[in-house]
Amino acid sequence: CGIVALIGSREAAPQLLEGLRQLEYRGYDSAGIATVDGDGLHCLKAEGKLVNLTTRFEAQGAPGQCGIGHTRWATHGKPEERNAHPHLDGSGRLAVVQNGIIENYRGLREELQSQGVLFRSETDTEVIPHLLARELERRRAAGEQASAALLLAALQSVLPLLQGAYALAVVWAEVPGALVVARKAAPLLIGLGEGEFLCASDTPALAGFTRTILPMEDGEVAMLTPLGIELYDAAGQRVQRSPSLLSGTEHVADKRSFRHFMLKEIHEQPETAALWVARHLPEVVEGEATPLVALPLAAEVFEGVERIQILACGTSRHAAQVGAYLLEQLAGIPTSVFYASEFRYAPPPLSPHTLTIGVTQSGETADTLAALAMEQERRRLVADPAYRPRLLGITNRAESSLARMVDHIFDIGAGIEVGVAATKTFLGQLLAFYGLSLAFAERRVGQRQGGVSSGRSREELKALVAQLRQLPQQLEALVADHDQRCASLAHRFEGTQDVIFLGRGINYPIALEGALKLKEISYIHAEGYPAGEMKHGPIALLDAKVPVVSIAMPGAVFDKVLSNAQEAKARDAQLIGVAPECPDAELFDVLLPVPAVDELLSPLLTVIPMQLLSYHIAAHRGLDVDQPRNLAKSVTVE
Ligand code: G6P
Repeated sequence: CGIVALIGSREAAPQLLEGLRQLEYRGYDSAGIATVDGDGLHCLKAEGKLVNLTTRFEAQGAPGQCGIGHTRWATHGKPEERNAHPHLDGSGRLAVVQNGIIENYRGLREELQSQGVLFRSETDTEVIPHLLARELERRRAAGEQASAALLLAALQSVLPLLQGAYALAVVWAEVPGALVVARKAAPLLIGLGEGEFLCASDTPALAGFTRTILPMEDGEVAMLTPLGIELYDAAGQRVQRSPSLLSGTEHVADKRSFRHFMLKEIHEQPETAALWVARHLPEVVEGEATPLVALPLAAEVFEGVERIQILACGTSRHAAQVGAYLLEQLAGIPTSVFYASEFRYAPPPLSPHTLTIGVTQSGETADTLAALAMEQERRRLVADPAYRPRLLGITNRAESSLARMVDHIFDIGAGIEVGVAATKTFLGQLLAFYGLSLAFAERRVGQRQGGVSSGRSREELKALVAQLRQLPQQLEALVADHDQRCASLAHRFEGTQDVIFLGRGINYPIALEGALKLKEISYIHAEGYPAGEMKHGPIALLDAKVPVVSIAMPGAVFDKVLSNAQEAKARDAQLIGVAPECPDAELFDVLLPVPAVDELLSPLLTVIPMQLLSYHIAAHRGLDVDQPRNLAKSVTVE
């Protein structure tokens, strides 16, 4: 979902629509705007893509220099026009847009209904305009005059009634010269223009408008007029804070000459890797003790850590699984990975000296944030300092809610990713874990000599770092080559309904990621399996109609994976190999060749054919690759 709100001295609607267009990538299934002027409130909504709303605006108009807009990803209620935001009060003079979720909306709705309020939608949001209208009516009956201050006071009285997470914006036709906004556990930023202010849930909507921003903090409420901003904390106290600057061009979404953002982002991965190498692998000077990796993290992140737990969802969870393999095998630290949504309700017993890592490219995934908050809270209640919370976030959005919540942040710095299906941010997350595990391993080399840890020797680590320096060039060649190969392979999947992805060891999470990518954008059913498990169930699915993609990289499990592939071939499955060019690879019907790097580094390469295969299959089917159905880039609801 996305929110925009504008107040200033020019017509608001065109800028609101432009802001919503910049937020399209986050995924949505309906959109709407509401503006206010001396004639009242003008609300337009449309199901489906933004072009439908724009057509409606061109036909009907929405005059006024103050307005709000929203793209909605359906949670409560179907993606129909009546459920699209803005939602209005009974008089149709007050409008609200909201991101997040009002958990106690049922009770509030019943209470309002018992007072005679009629609801027009099935959404949780609609309780807000009705609650505001009730509060405004009560205050006006007591003699208060319609004013911006009254609207602000009414919002401040209503917010404590709402449980859950929200970012919201309100306009009221009685005061067309003001709008009010609020946030709690969902992002909202105010952009400061010349005599105008634009408020949005994400930076791309602001980037073309201004570089001067004021990110709102949790619990804050703001009143915006063309003259300025008044900011208040949850207790109603006035807050003064200096704005900050949006840096670089990374917030601007530009497709360049690529057909889809996803393809452009796949092609940006050599650059993601080159930046990582430049930032984190210091040049080795002979005779000087240079660290193997340089990470912008305090020593406190590493000191005395005995266990690591990683919380994430979707693609980020797959990066976490590769990370756990590295942290255990390279650095010798016991590491567990959890689905954030599961961890929240069934966390493992507390362990001492534990580092908790939250991985989320958007930094806004509600499940991941809530799981981290829960972990922080339960550890704060323990007196023994061994159990104190130590939280590290890995994200692509240094200004996100995640960054405001954890003590330490690793910014993967991959630049804005527009495609809903993560590609370059996945590579960025993997690289963050390579950096992290090398840093842990390096610190533990000495301990290992003391027989404490099962990590690697410094020489082994140095050899890995030397190979990592080759990554940008390897990726460059691989992306170019596989783009061609996968494009010409796509037609083979025309009638395909199921695909099995197999991998083992460090490439098992890559098999999972290959299957997830294919599901997300091509809507073909796919399963990722550890290759050795295939015989315990999924092999029953195999026949000539089910292609099997097998990741077979030289290393500890190479022969095993090849024999698992043989088992599939014996069931007539069409075998696609992601493996080096070698005699063993002749077993595959189709080979997507990957250089034979150290097995520990291979996920950084094997993921490329996974991404390009899904991309070309989906593009060949003519699907909306960048905005697949039902998915959102950033899921801010539980
Ligand atoms: C959504 C997206 C997935 C993504 C997941 C986690 O469900 O559709 O592609 O992997 O969120 O997102 P995060 O921002 O936490 O990495």
